[in-house]
Amino acid sequence: MHVNELLTEENIEEQAWKALEQSILYYQGRPIGTVAAYDASVEALNYDQCFIRDFVSSALIFLIKGRTDIVRNFLEETLKLQPKERQLDAYKPGKGLIPASFKVISLNGQEYLEADFGEHAIARVTPVDSCLWWIILLRAYVIATKDFSIVYKPEFQNGIRLIMEICLANRFDMYPTLLVPDGACMIDRRLGIYGHPLEIQVLFYTALRAAREMLICNGNQDIVAAIDNRLPLLCAHIRQHYWIDIYRLNAIYRFKSEEYGKTAVNLFNIYVDSLPYYELDKWLPRKGGYLAGNVGPSQLDTRFFSLGNLMAIISDLATEEQSQAIMTLIEERWDDLVGDMPMKICFPALEHEEYRIVTGCDPKNIPWSYHNAGSWPVLMWMLAAASVKTNKTGLARKAIEIAQARLGEDEWPEYYDGKKGRLIGKQARKYQTWTITGYLLAKELIANPSYLPLVSFDELPPEAISRACEFEIGSVDPYMS
Ligand code: GLC
Repeated sequence: MHVNELLTEENIEEQAWKALEQSILYYQGRPIGTVAAYDASVEALNYDQCFIRDFVSSALIFLIKGRTDIVRNFLEETLKLQPKERQLDAYKPGKGLIPASFKVISLNGQEYLEADFGEHAIARVTPVDSCLWWIILLRAYVIATKDFSIVYKPEFQNGIRLIMEICLANRFDMYPTLLVPDGACMIDRRLGIYGHPLEIQVLFYTALRAAREMLICNGNQDIVAAIDNRLPLLCAHIRQHYWIDIYRLNAIYRFKSEEYGKTAVNLFNIYVDSLPYYELDKWLPRKGGYLAGNVGPSQLDTRFFSLGNLMAIISDLATEEQSQAIMTLIEERWDDLVGDMPMKICFPALEHEEYRIVTGCDPKNIPWSYHNAGSWPVLMWMLAAASVKTNKTGLARKAIEIAQARLGEDEWPEYYDGKKGRLIGKQARKYQTWTITGYLLAKELIANPSYLPLVSFDELPPEAISRACEFEIGSVDPYMS
């Protein structure tokens, strides 16, 4: 008999809670985070650290279960790790950054936190998403606890401000989106996502919305005004230039190139031959659509990236119509995007010469593996949240059922490989915390949709933009209610 047949849904959940409990990281006697994976069978590398992005799903589950102390400790301690001064050494993390991960070290009977801003990470990648997730999580904490006082603390106001300053700084770029290097987010290895990748843009938008709600105007007028200027531009840019459906594909297919000046239609000078339009013509359902992976000069990355698309729905960056179309695409292309394990990190995989050139021959990112179209159970909670937001909970229920049949038995792998996601990832850790929390959180969100506002936003209120700076210390924030 297969082990799975003995595992009931309750058993699996119980196993998940136990494993989550074991992943908790303690610092000076207080819980402050969760390790990435609790897998003693392989070398830890940095999986024994608490990653900011990985902790988000743990934190949301803890908030739902009323264990708010661990989230508060996490927010306070990670804030202390943020550099507050301009660094003279270019190899040191810049002012305002939040690390990718941290660990507790003991020295002469004392415990310290050691942060990694990418200076130890494989390929020395800078985590751009950490500071964005940090702000998003701070807002979730405030919503869950209704305790605004943490946000009003000068050190928190300063922390948010410093993050906004790096995000909104002038740079060699004239788009409202954020220009970042490859591997700046969950996909933290080279995968051809440098430039203006969707994941970062959506998290940027969400963090701007969250910061706008939490920043006290007194003393921050400049930043608040900068956010109010940026939000509508960023929103319109993504909705317009990243959107792909069969109508848009038709327009792009007939684009002229080399247009100069104000009347240009093909603004980014996309060459049609760079697009897999033949495949897209077959793949795009009549009513479905999605946000492209990246838009830049002569660049339109037509890969579907799940995190960006799902978070665009949750944060209300996608219009209502676009959100429905994204969910329709997921439904109609279920075998490609969900298959036997929810859900693909991106689709399709880079193959052959393209794989070699774009990934730099990365053996971990071979086609249909890991970041290169592997399946990541953590994405299930975002699928669940997006399903709740679009009233398509049936999709999330189906996904949870599929995952449930395997995750416990497979000991909660980090990711799965293969076109259908049937193979446990070649180098996947077992007892990966965000796999466990992705599953638990998806279940909670479906069972109780009232948790959605922890991460979701309503339509960008036009009057909120023009009412900048009315909000003072201690008053009820109009954007939070
Ligand atoms: C891998 C993933 C990254 C994650 C980390 C810890 O590096 O690519 O997204 O944060 O593992 O789980």
